[in-house]
Amino acid sequence: MRTLFTHPPRMPLIAPSILSADFARMGQECESVLRAGGDLLHLDVMDGHFVPNLTMGPDMCRSLRHALPDAFLDVHLMVTDPALHAPKFIEAGANHITFHVEAVPAEGKGGVADLAGRIREMGATAGLALNPETPVQAVQPHSAEVDLVLVMSVHPGSSGQAFMPEVLEKVRVLEDEMLPTQRLEMDGGIKPENARLAREAGCDVIVAASAVFGVPQSRRADVIAALRGNGA
Ligand code: DX5
Ligand code: ZN
Repeated sequence: MRTLFTHPPRMPLIAPSILSADFARMGQECESVLRAGGDLLHLDVMDGHFVPNLTMGPDMCRSLRHALPDAFLDVHLMVTDPALHAPKFIEAGANHITFHVEAVPAEGKGGVADLAGRIREMGATAGLALNPETPVQAVQPHSAEVDLVLVMSVHPGSSGQAFMPEVLEKVRVLEDEMLPTQRLEMDGGIKPENARLAREAGCDVIVAASAVFGVPQSRRADVIAALRGNGA
């Protein structure tokens, strides 16, 4: 199993979201961002119900796994029924699955601990996401049940939205409580100009779609280095 925490041992990890890639040239786009220093590929899965937009399914994951056998595939499920979809993405080669706390019951069958356990049994790591309007108290009781917490810094649904700095306080709270082996991811509106805010609050996985794929391939290494806090 490829685990999130050893792949690779860089801080923070930069996760280009393929939502802003050119879908007609997806393989080449993904190769370009990995060559440019991207650590993970972030797959934004939207079901047209949990959020209005529809994006990609397990077949995209399978094709990327086939084309890029060593890539770490970080799947972000913005779907109403994550228990239904998570296994299909793991079978298709996902390394990590994040589901939303707003989409599952707090406890019992299909709840956070149950779903995270099923994801791990299938050989992937599990993450729990929360929307900007969801209080940090909704995930605090579950932080020990998952490998990663994803703090959304935009309302999920599309790339290219403005970063919401008010969510940084949630990261600071979680950072104090989480284990050193767990990761804190931030997603939405992150650019070279504001990535420092996420890093300094305690995030060690930074997602960026438009900031990375919105520039020509020749500039992506500089953008990824800047997101990580190195140069540029
Ligand atoms: C939010 C998605 C994000 C988003 C990021 O709907 O989960 O991953 O596409 O896009 P940017 O980086 O352009 O805000
Ligand atoms: Zn995402």
